[in-house]
Amino acid sequence: MIGENFSEFLPLHTMELKNDLFLRAHRGEAIERYPVWLMRQAGRILPEYRAVRAKLSGFKELVETPEFAAEVTIQPVDILDVDAAIIFSDILVVPEAMGLTYQMIEQKGPWFEKTIRTREQLSFLDQEIDVQERLSYVFEALKLTKKELAGRVPLIGFAGAPWTILCYMVEGRGSKTFSESRKLLYTDPDLAHELLSRITDVTIQYLKAQLNAGADALQLFDSWAGILGREQYTEFGLKYISKIVDAIPHVPLTVFSKGAIASLPDLTELNCSTLGLDWNMNVVETRKMVGETKTLQGNLDPCVLYGSQKLVELETIKLLKSFESQRHIVNLGHGVYPDIDPEKVKVFIKTVKNYEI
Ligand code: CP3
Repeated sequence: MIGENFSEFLPLHTMELKNDLFLRAHRGEAIERYPVWLMRQAGRILPEYRAVRAKLSGFKELVETPEFAAEVTIQPVDILDVDAAIIFSDILVVPEAMGLTYQMIEQKGPWFEKTIRTREQLSFLDQEIDVQERLSYVFEALKLTKKELAGRVPLIGFAGAPWTILCYMVEGRGSKTFSESRKLLYTDPDLAHELLSRITDVTIQYLKAQLNAGADALQLFDSWAGILGREQYTEFGLKYISKIVDAIPHVPLTVFSKGAIASLPDLTELNCSTLGLDWNMNVVETRKMVGETKTLQGNLDPCVLYGSQKLVELETIKLLKSFESQRHIVNLGHGVYPDIDPEKVKVFIKTVKNYEI
């Protein structure tokens, strides 16, 4: 007889999900309502997050301690009632695993002591790294989160897209223009390609390992896609995203290329289930381009959440009404800003959940 305990022996990812709306929407299957979650939902908007964070030495301790990472990953599921959890981590763990350590400086953001701007500086990077070992804390956090979620909602794993990771490795910090990174594309395109290839190889291993550790879906964040024009994004961005998505077929996977409006026709050609739209991308026009071949995720302007509850409700309904297909996952057009009132986020989520499709 197959008893209760049998489930303990099943691989984590075969555990049945109580709410799989998010995965069904990725696959283009029938849904009874649109699923909803928020980019950057695990983070500073929640007082409960800040309480956990305050007990620790800093952001990195939180990222690198699976028990705490799991706790803050699950907080938005408990508190905001979202339809998916995203593992608490950062895109910068990949450059770190490659040999460039970073610090997360309070009020300022990431800072890398070493940067890659010349061929000689490639020696700062370790080759043939053991991804499983170097990023074991992420995989442990995924396993623990999956266990603690007990099938309530799917768990999203993620990575930065190669172009965005290159930007941080070249610049060493955030930037308004990322001109050092764009400069490299003209002064030493071969070096840029070498760096992008190395990031791509590690990212493929990293994402596969996240799936093995229990991630049900994946997202690639290309936060700085929009600083390149269409041709340059094809050469230095999409070429590597294609390699990644082709290496991980048949998995619910979202490519979020923020700002890459000119490249939308190219993005529709990618071998992925879902495209993330920022708030300037037009849902109706993008739907015309993709037809029913892809799910679209997004794209309420995160600043709507600074408005009144009534405004949040009206703008959310306006977005929902613009959908001409069931293949949608509702989200913001970028990460939620840290000073947003969680009550407004709850109105956004409730409005989506109460909307009849
Ligand atoms: O979405 C989630 O809730 C999961 C966690 C997550 C974080 N970062 C936690 C975080 C995710 C998916 C990211 C992705 C990420 N990290 C991106 C891509 C998405 C985007 O926003 O465009 C980028 C560009 C980074 C790099 C990064 N991490 C920067 C530039 C900064 C500093 C600025 C900022 O947003 O705070 C971070 C720090 C960071 N990553 C925080 C969190 C919760 C804040 C750190 C803190 O707790 O003080």
